[in-house]
Amino acid sequence: MTASRKDDHVRLAVAQHTASQTAPSAGQVPHSTRTSQFDDVRFTHHALAGIDRAQVDLTTHVAGHAWQAPLYINAMTGGSAKTGEINRGLAIAARETGLAIATGSMSPYLKDPTTAGTFTTVRVHHPHGFVMANLNPNATPEQARRAVDLIQADALQIHLNTVQETVMPEGDRSFGHWASAIAAITAAVSVPVIVKEVGFGLSGRTVTRLAELGVAAADVAGSGGTDFARIENGRREHSDYSYLNGWGLSTPAALLDARDRGLPLLASGGIRHPLDVARSLALGARAVGVSAGFLTTLITDGPDGLIRQIRTWLDQLTALMTLLGARTPADLAACDLQITGTLRAFLDHPPAPEDNRR
Ligand code: FNR
Repeated sequence: MTASRKDDHVRLAVAQHTASQTAPSAGQVPHSTRTSQFDDVRFTHHALAGIDRAQVDLTTHVAGHAWQAPLYINAMTGGSAKTGEINRGLAIAARETGLAIATGSMSPYLKDPTTAGTFTTVRVHHPHGFVMANLNPNATPEQARRAVDLIQADALQIHLNTVQETVMPEGDRSFGHWASAIAAITAAVSVPVIVKEVGFGLSGRTVTRLAELGVAAADVAGSGGTDFARIENGRREHSDYSYLNGWGLSTPAALLDARDRGLPLLASGGIRHPLDVARSLALGARAVGVSAGFLTTLITDGPDGLIRQIRTWLDQLTALMTLLGARTPADLAACDLQITGTLRAFLDHPPAPEDNRR
Protein backbone atom coordinates (compact mmCIF):
# COMPACT_ATOMS: atom_id res chain seq x y z
CA MET A 1 0.00 0.00 0.00
CA THR A 2 2.71 2.49 1.03
CA ALA A 3 4.90 1.39 -1.90
CA SER A 4 2.12 1.95 -4.43
CA ARG A 5 1.31 5.33 -2.87
CA LYS A 6 4.96 6.37 -3.27
CA ASP A 7 4.91 5.25 -6.93
CA ASP A 8 1.61 7.15 -7.46
CA HIS A 9 3.12 10.33 -6.00
CA VAL A 10 6.04 10.17 -8.40
CA ARG A 11 3.81 9.52 -11.43
CA LEU A 12 1.29 12.23 -10.55
CA ALA A 13 3.92 14.83 -9.56
CA VAL A 14 5.77 14.30 -12.84
CA ALA A 15 2.49 14.54 -14.80
CA GLN A 16 1.58 17.74 -12.93
CA HIS A 17 5.00 19.25 -13.58
CA THR A 18 5.05 18.21 -17.24
CA ALA A 19 1.61 19.71 -17.83
CA SER A 20 2.96 23.06 -16.60
CA GLN A 21 5.81 23.13 -19.13
CA THR A 22 5.86 24.16 -22.77
CA ALA A 23 6.84 21.38 -25.15
CA PRO A 24 10.40 22.28 -26.17
CA SER A 25 11.45 22.03 -29.79
CA ALA A 26 14.73 20.23 -30.45
CA GLY A 27 17.66 21.67 -28.54
CA GLN A 28 15.57 24.07 -26.48
CA VAL A 29 15.31 24.17 -22.74
CA PRO A 30 11.69 23.65 -21.61
CA HIS A 31 10.33 26.54 -19.65
CA SER A 32 7.36 26.90 -17.41
CA THR A 33 4.09 28.35 -18.65
CA ARG A 34 2.68 28.63 -15.15
CA THR A 35 1.96 32.05 -13.79
CA SER A 36 3.75 32.41 -10.51
CA GLN A 37 3.92 34.98 -7.74
CA PHE A 38 7.68 34.86 -8.32
CA ASP A 39 6.94 36.99 -11.39
CA ASP A 40 5.78 39.74 -9.00
CA VAL A 41 9.39 39.97 -7.75
CA ARG A 42 11.62 42.05 -10.03
CA PHE A 43 15.23 43.05 -9.49
CA THR A 44 15.73 46.77 -10.07
CA HIS A 45 18.26 46.89 -12.88
CA HIS A 46 21.43 48.85 -12.14
CA ALA A 47 23.57 48.93 -15.28
CA LEU A 48 26.83 49.59 -13.41
CA ALA A 49 26.28 47.10 -10.59
CA GLY A 50 28.09 44.24 -12.30
CA ILE A 51 31.21 42.57 -10.93
CA ASP A 52 33.66 40.03 -12.36
CA ARG A 53 32.40 36.46 -12.56
CA ALA A 54 35.54 35.27 -10.76
CA GLN A 55 34.44 37.29 -7.71
CA VAL A 56 31.28 35.21 -7.25
CA ASP A 57 31.36 32.49 -4.60
CA LEU A 58 28.22 30.33 -4.35
CA THR A 59 29.02 29.02 -0.85
CA THR A 60 26.19 29.37 1.65
CA HIS A 61 25.69 28.34 5.27
CA VAL A 62 22.84 26.11 6.40
CA ALA A 63 22.32 24.55 9.82
CA GLY A 64 25.92 25.13 10.85
CA HIS A 65 27.42 23.69 7.65
CA ALA A 66 28.92 25.28 4.55
CA TRP A 67 27.19 24.20 1.34
CA GLN A 68 29.04 24.53 -1.97
CA ALA A 69 25.96 26.00 -3.62
CA PRO A 70 22.66 27.51 -2.47
CA LEU A 71 20.64 24.81 -4.24
CA TYR A 72 19.47 21.38 -3.05
CA ILE A 73 17.40 18.41 -4.11
CA ASN A 74 14.43 18.44 -1.79
CA ALA A 75 12.58 15.54 -0.15
CA MET A 76 10.70 13.20 -2.40
CA THR A 77 10.82 9.52 -2.16
CA GLY A 78 11.88 6.02 -1.12
CA GLY A 79 10.04 2.94 0.11
CA SER A 80 9.54 0.97 -3.12
CA ALA A 81 11.92 -0.61 -5.64
CA LYS A 82 11.17 2.06 -8.22
CA THR A 83 11.63 4.96 -5.81
CA GLY A 84 14.86 3.44 -4.48
CA GLU A 85 16.17 3.60 -8.03
CA ILE A 86 15.06 7.23 -8.24
CA ASN A 87 16.90 8.03 -5.00
CA ARG A 88 20.03 6.45 -6.46
CA GLY A 89 19.83 8.71 -9.54
CA LEU A 90 19.13 11.84 -7.48
CA ALA A 91 22.08 11.06 -5.19
CA ILE A 92 24.46 10.57 -8.12
CA ALA A 93 23.39 13.93 -9.56
CA ALA A 94 23.79 15.60 -6.15
CA ARG A 95 27.26 14.08 -5.75
CA GLU A 96 28.45 15.15 -9.20
CA THR A 97 27.25 18.73 -8.69
CA GLY A 98 28.05 19.13 -4.98
CA LEU A 99 24.46 19.67 -3.91
CA ALA A 100 22.79 18.77 -0.63
CA ILE A 101 19.93 16.27 -0.89
CA ALA A 102 17.01 15.03 1.23
CA THR A 103 15.43 11.60 1.11
CA GLY A 104 11.65 11.35 1.05
CA SER A 105 9.76 10.52 4.21
CA MET A 106 11.41 7.55 5.93
CA SER A 107 8.10 6.37 7.46
CA PRO A 108 8.11 3.36 5.07
CA TYR A 109 11.42 2.26 6.66
CA LEU A 110 10.01 2.62 10.17
CA LYS A 111 7.02 0.44 9.19
CA ASP A 112 9.03 -2.05 7.14
CA PRO A 113 12.82 -2.21 7.70
CA THR A 114 13.26 -4.24 4.48
CA THR A 115 12.85 -0.93 2.59
CA ALA A 116 16.06 0.46 4.21
CA GLY A 117 18.08 0.11 1.00
CA THR A 118 15.76 2.47 -0.88
CA PHE A 119 16.96 5.23 1.50
CA THR A 120 20.56 4.20 2.27
CA THR A 121 21.28 4.34 -1.47
CA VAL A 122 21.36 8.14 -1.06
CA ARG A 123 24.25 7.92 1.43
CA VAL A 124 25.98 5.16 -0.55
CA HIS A 125 26.05 7.27 -3.71
CA HIS A 126 26.70 10.64 -2.02
CA PRO A 127 29.08 9.48 0.73
CA HIS A 128 30.55 12.89 1.58
CA GLY A 129 27.53 15.04 0.78
CA PHE A 130 25.09 16.87 3.01
CA VAL A 131 22.22 14.38 3.30
CA MET A 132 18.94 15.08 5.09
CA ALA A 133 16.59 12.45 6.48
CA ASN A 134 12.86 13.20 6.40
CA LEU A 135 9.97 12.27 8.72
CA ASN A 136 6.62 13.58 9.85
CA PRO A 137 6.04 14.77 13.44
CA ASN A 138 4.29 11.50 14.35
CA ALA A 139 7.69 9.79 14.57
CA THR A 140 8.85 9.13 18.12
CA PRO A 141 12.22 10.56 19.19
CA GLU A 142 13.60 7.00 19.09
CA GLN A 143 12.33 6.49 15.52
CA ALA A 144 13.82 9.83 14.51
CA ARG A 145 17.21 8.72 15.86
CA ARG A 146 16.94 5.45 13.91
CA ALA A 147 16.17 7.26 10.67
CA VAL A 148 19.08 9.68 11.14
CA ASP A 149 21.46 6.83 12.01
CA LEU A 150 20.40 4.68 9.05
CA ILE A 151 21.65 7.16 6.48
CA GLN A 152 24.14 9.01 8.70
CA ALA A 153 22.11 12.11 8.05
CA ASP A 154 23.63 15.56 8.51
CA ALA A 155 20.22 17.05 9.33
CA LEU A 156 16.65 15.88 9.82
CA GLN A 157 13.76 17.43 7.95
CA ILE A 158 10.35 17.20 9.62
CA HIS A 159 7.51 17.82 7.20
CA LEU A 160 4.19 19.43 8.08
CA ASN A 161 1.40 18.40 5.70
CA THR A 162 -2.01 19.01 7.28
CA VAL A 163 -3.66 19.74 3.91
CA GLN A 164 -2.35 16.57 2.26
CA GLU A 165 -3.41 14.42 5.24
CA THR A 166 -6.86 15.99 5.21
CA VAL A 167 -7.45 15.17 1.55
CA MET A 168 -6.31 11.55 2.03
CA PRO A 169 -9.17 9.39 3.35
CA GLU A 170 -6.60 7.30 5.25
CA GLY A 171 -4.70 10.43 6.36
CA ASP A 172 -4.05 11.71 9.87
CA ARG A 173 -6.74 13.74 11.58
CA SER A 174 -4.86 14.65 14.77
CA PHE A 175 -2.38 17.50 14.51
CA GLY A 176 -2.62 19.04 17.97
CA HIS A 177 0.47 17.26 19.31
CA TRP A 178 2.76 18.27 16.46
CA ALA A 179 4.44 21.25 18.13
CA SER A 180 5.39 19.30 21.24
CA ALA A 181 6.45 16.34 19.08
CA ILE A 182 8.80 18.59 17.08
CA ALA A 183 10.34 19.88 20.31
CA ALA A 184 10.81 16.31 21.60
CA ILE A 185 12.42 15.10 18.35
CA THR A 186 14.64 18.17 18.18
CA ALA A 187 15.87 17.54 21.72
CA ALA A 188 16.53 13.85 21.00
CA VAL A 189 18.47 13.85 17.74
CA SER A 190 22.13 14.75 17.42
CA VAL A 191 21.71 16.69 14.15
CA PRO A 192 19.99 20.00 13.35
CA VAL A 193 16.26 19.82 12.60
CA ILE A 194 14.79 21.67 9.63
CA VAL A 195 11.00 21.91 9.54
CA LYS A 196 9.36 22.15 6.14
CA GLU A 197 5.95 22.23 4.52
CA VAL A 198 5.24 20.11 1.45
CA GLY A 199 3.99 22.87 -0.85
CA PHE A 200 1.46 24.90 1.15
CA GLY A 201 3.94 27.29 2.78
CA LEU A 202 5.06 28.19 6.30
CA SER A 203 3.68 31.53 7.52
CA GLY A 204 5.54 34.00 9.71
CA ARG A 205 3.42 32.96 12.66
CA THR A 206 4.36 29.32 12.14
CA VAL A 207 8.05 30.17 11.87
CA THR A 208 7.93 32.18 15.11
CA ARG A 209 6.48 29.08 16.80
CA LEU A 210 9.15 26.84 15.26
CA ALA A 211 11.89 29.13 16.57
CA GLU A 212 10.50 28.58 20.07
CA LEU A 213 10.62 24.80 19.56
CA GLY A 214 14.37 24.77 19.04
CA VAL A 215 14.58 23.91 15.34
CA ALA A 216 17.60 25.09 13.33
CA ALA A 217 15.92 26.33 10.14
CA ALA A 218 12.59 26.45 8.31
CA ASP A 219 12.00 25.54 4.65
CA VAL A 220 8.91 27.50 3.67
CA ALA A 221 8.04 25.00 0.86
CA GLY A 222 5.27 27.16 -0.55
CA SER A 223 2.65 26.76 -3.24
CA GLY A 224 3.18 27.41 -6.93
CA GLY A 225 4.76 24.07 -7.82
CA THR A 226 3.79 20.56 -6.75
CA ASP A 227 0.26 20.66 -5.32
CA PHE A 228 -0.42 17.73 -3.01
CA ALA A 229 -4.11 18.63 -2.75
CA ARG A 230 -4.39 18.06 -6.50
CA ILE A 231 -2.23 14.94 -6.34
CA GLU A 232 -4.31 13.34 -3.58
CA ASN A 233 -7.56 14.42 -5.22
CA GLY A 234 -6.28 12.88 -8.44
CA ARG A 235 -5.60 9.53 -6.75
CA ARG A 236 -9.27 8.79 -6.19
CA GLU A 237 -12.40 8.87 -8.27
CA HIS A 238 -14.48 11.03 -5.98
CA SER A 239 -12.21 13.94 -5.27
CA ASP A 240 -14.29 15.45 -2.51
CA TYR A 241 -11.70 18.07 -1.69
CA SER A 242 -10.89 19.38 -5.17
CA TYR A 243 -11.79 22.89 -3.97
CA LEU A 244 -8.56 22.80 -1.94
CA ASN A 245 -6.45 22.65 -5.10
CA GLY A 246 -4.19 25.70 -5.07
CA TRP A 247 -4.42 26.17 -1.26
CA GLY A 248 -1.53 27.79 0.55
CA LEU A 249 0.98 30.61 0.69
CA SER A 250 3.18 30.95 -2.37
CA THR A 251 6.91 30.57 -1.81
CA PRO A 252 7.69 34.31 -2.23
CA ALA A 253 4.72 35.25 0.01
CA ALA A 254 5.88 32.81 2.68
CA LEU A 255 9.45 34.16 2.50
CA LEU A 256 8.18 37.72 2.94
CA ASP A 257 5.90 36.71 5.81
CA ALA A 258 8.48 34.56 7.60
CA ARG A 259 11.57 36.76 7.41
CA ASP A 260 12.91 38.24 10.63
CA ARG A 261 11.09 35.62 12.71
CA GLY A 262 14.21 34.28 14.38
CA LEU A 263 15.04 31.36 12.08
CA PRO A 264 17.21 30.99 8.98
CA LEU A 265 14.95 30.29 6.00
CA LEU A 266 15.21 27.91 3.08
CA ALA A 267 12.96 28.27 0.04
CA SER A 268 11.26 25.62 -2.05
CA GLY A 269 8.04 25.10 -3.97
CA GLY A 270 7.56 26.08 -7.60
CA ILE A 271 11.16 27.07 -8.37
CA ARG A 272 11.13 27.18 -12.20
CA HIS A 273 14.57 28.44 -13.17
CA PRO A 274 17.75 30.13 -11.87
CA LEU A 275 16.01 33.53 -11.70
CA ASP A 276 13.54 32.07 -9.15
CA VAL A 277 16.58 30.81 -7.21
CA ALA A 278 18.09 34.32 -7.24
CA ARG A 279 14.72 35.86 -6.27
CA SER A 280 14.39 33.46 -3.32
CA LEU A 281 17.90 34.32 -2.11
CA ALA A 282 17.10 38.03 -2.50
CA LEU A 283 14.01 37.48 -0.33
CA GLY A 284 16.28 36.11 2.38
CA ALA A 285 16.56 32.35 1.83
CA ARG A 286 19.92 30.72 2.57
CA ALA A 287 19.36 28.03 -0.08
CA VAL A 288 16.69 26.90 -2.51
CA GLY A 289 15.20 23.42 -2.97
CA VAL A 290 13.75 21.81 -6.07
CA SER A 291 11.69 18.62 -6.20
CA ALA A 292 9.35 17.84 -9.11
CA GLY A 293 11.39 19.73 -11.70
CA PHE A 294 14.54 17.71 -10.99
CA LEU A 295 12.56 14.48 -10.65
CA THR A 296 11.04 14.99 -14.10
CA THR A 297 14.45 15.56 -15.64
CA LEU A 298 15.83 12.44 -13.94
CA ILE A 299 12.97 10.33 -15.23
CA THR A 300 13.13 11.64 -18.79
CA ASP A 301 16.90 12.11 -19.22
CA GLY A 302 18.52 9.99 -16.49
CA PRO A 303 21.21 11.08 -14.00
CA ASP A 304 23.36 12.58 -16.79
CA GLY A 305 20.49 14.79 -17.89
CA LEU A 306 19.90 15.97 -14.32
CA ILE A 307 23.62 16.66 -13.84
CA ARG A 308 23.55 18.79 -17.01
CA GLN A 309 20.49 20.68 -15.79
CA ILE A 310 21.95 21.41 -12.34
CA ARG A 311 25.27 22.55 -13.88
CA THR A 312 23.37 24.88 -16.20
CA TRP A 313 21.39 26.30 -13.27
CA LEU A 314 24.56 26.90 -11.20
CA ASP A 315 26.27 28.48 -14.20
CA GLN A 316 23.31 30.79 -14.84
CA LEU A 317 22.91 31.63 -11.15
CA THR A 318 26.58 32.69 -11.13
CA ALA A 319 25.91 34.81 -14.24
CA LEU A 320 22.89 36.49 -12.61
CA MET A 321 24.90 37.22 -9.45
CA THR A 322 27.66 38.71 -11.63
CA LEU A 323 25.30 41.16 -13.32
CA LEU A 324 23.55 41.98 -10.04
CA GLY A 325 26.84 42.60 -8.24
CA ALA A 326 26.33 39.89 -5.60
CA ARG A 327 29.56 38.18 -4.57
CA THR A 328 27.76 35.69 -2.33
CA PRO A 329 24.20 34.34 -2.08
CA ALA A 330 23.75 36.45 1.07
CA ASP A 331 24.68 39.59 -0.93
CA LEU A 332 21.56 39.09 -3.07
CA ALA A 333 19.47 40.10 -0.05
CA ALA A 334 20.88 43.62 -0.43
CA CYS A 335 19.63 43.98 -4.03
CA ASP A 336 16.84 46.44 -4.77
CA LEU A 337 13.57 44.66 -5.53
CA GLN A 338 10.23 45.78 -6.88
CA ILE A 339 7.28 43.82 -5.55
CA THR A 340 4.17 44.13 -7.68
CA GLY A 341 0.81 42.51 -8.39
CA THR A 342 -0.87 40.09 -6.02
CA LEU A 343 2.33 39.73 -3.98
CA ARG A 344 2.28 43.50 -3.37
CA ALA A 345 -1.35 43.19 -2.24
CA PHE A 346 -0.33 40.40 0.16
CA LEU A 347 2.49 42.58 1.55
CA ASP A 348 0.13 45.49 2.03
CA HIS A 349 -2.32 43.33 3.99
CA PRO A 350 -0.11 41.01 6.03
CA PRO A 351 -1.64 38.74 8.67
CA ALA A 352 -1.82 40.29 12.15
CA PRO A 353 1.78 40.87 13.30
CA GLU A 354 2.31 38.72 16.35
CA ASP A 355 -0.11 37.39 18.84
CA ASN A 356 -0.64 34.31 20.91
CA ARG A 357 -2.44 32.32 18.27
CA ARG A 358 -0.73 29.52 16.39
C1 FNR B 1 7.37 15.43 -2.32
N1 FNR B 1 7.53 16.23 -1.19
C2 FNR B 1 7.81 15.64 0.03
N2 FNR B 1 8.17 16.39 1.11
C3 FNR B 1 8.52 15.82 2.27
O1 FNR B 1 8.88 16.53 3.20
N3 FNR B 1 8.49 14.46 2.41
C4 FNR B 1 8.13 13.64 1.38
O2 FNR B 1 8.14 12.42 1.53
C5 FNR B 1 7.76 14.22 0.15
N4 FNR B 1 7.38 13.45 -0.91
C6 FNR B 1 7.28 14.02 -2.17
C7 FNR B 1 7.13 13.22 -3.30
C8 FNR B 1 7.13 13.78 -4.56
C9 FNR B 1 7.03 12.89 -5.76
C10 FNR B 1 7.26 15.19 -4.71
C11 FNR B 1 7.29 15.84 -6.06
C12 FNR B 1 7.37 15.99 -3.61
C13 FNR B 1 7.39 17.71 -1.25
C14 FNR B 1 8.65 18.42 -1.71
O3 FNR B 1 9.73 18.22 -0.83
C15 FNR B 1 8.41 19.92 -1.89
O4 FNR B 1 8.12 20.53 -0.64
C16 FNR B 1 7.26 20.24 -2.85
O5 FNR B 1 7.23 19.28 -3.85
C17 FNR B 1 7.37 21.56 -3.52
O6 FNR B 1 8.51 21.62 -4.38
P1 FNR B 1 8.42 21.53 -5.99
O7 FNR B 1 8.04 20.14 -6.35
O8 FNR B 1 7.37 22.52 -6.42
O9 FNR B 1 9.81 21.86 -6.45
